[in-house]
Amino acid sequence: MEILKINDRDKIKYIELLLIADEQISMIEKYLYRGDMFALRDDDIRAICVITQEQPGIFELKNIVTVPKYQRKGYGQNLIAFIVDYYKQFGSELSVGTGDSPTILRFYERCGFVKSHVVQNFFIDNYDHPMYEDGQQLVDMIYLKRNL
Ligand SMILES: CC(C)(COP(=O)(O)OP(=O)(O)OC[C@H]1O[C@@H](n2cnc3c(N)ncnc32)[C@H](O)[C@@H]1OP(=O)(O)O)[C@@H](O)C(=O)NCCC(=O)NCCS
Repeated sequence: MEILKINDRDKIKYIELLLIADEQISMIEKYLYRGDMFALRDDDIRAICVITQEQPGIFELKNIVTVPKYQRKGYGQNLIAFIVDYYKQFGSELSVGTGDSPTILRFYERCGFVKSHVVQNFFIDNYDHPMYEDGQQLVDMIYLKRNL
């Protein structure tokens, strides 16, 4: 198993995977090229993520997805453990914003994140169509954070 940093020119190859976690291309474009993309490979690509620096030393996980057939095998958790280790040398905090979905929140809490704050109506105000997770419409963005 290895984790690769993806060049800007190759990032677009992963757009279909990125769209699983973030359904709107115009939203992905806001962070794709100012962020770092990493891919976890174990024979083939199993999981990818994009990280941005939002303030000096403060990083944000903007997108993480495990290829559906490889979910629940520890790849997502492994990728986050790598990211935490990698960014330690550059800063102190990693945050992530997500919809109010119990399964995703459980995943982040399992990865050491704790709830930080809520951005009300984020998904209504920023997306051009309603989005659903676990049958529930996404409305507010829940922010979680952890130390690096
Ligand atoms: C969220 C996501 C990246 C997790 O990746 P993953 O590789 O499947 O997760 P892991 O196998 O590393 O899971 C680690 C732990 O998180 C929790 N977890 C992960 N997925 C879960 C699920 N669907 N239901 C309940 N708990 C879950 C479990 O505690 C799991 O440990 P366990 O399997 O030992 O119980 C993956 O489900 C995914 O790609 N989802 C679609 C895209 C998405 O929603 N991304 C997040 C956008 S904010």
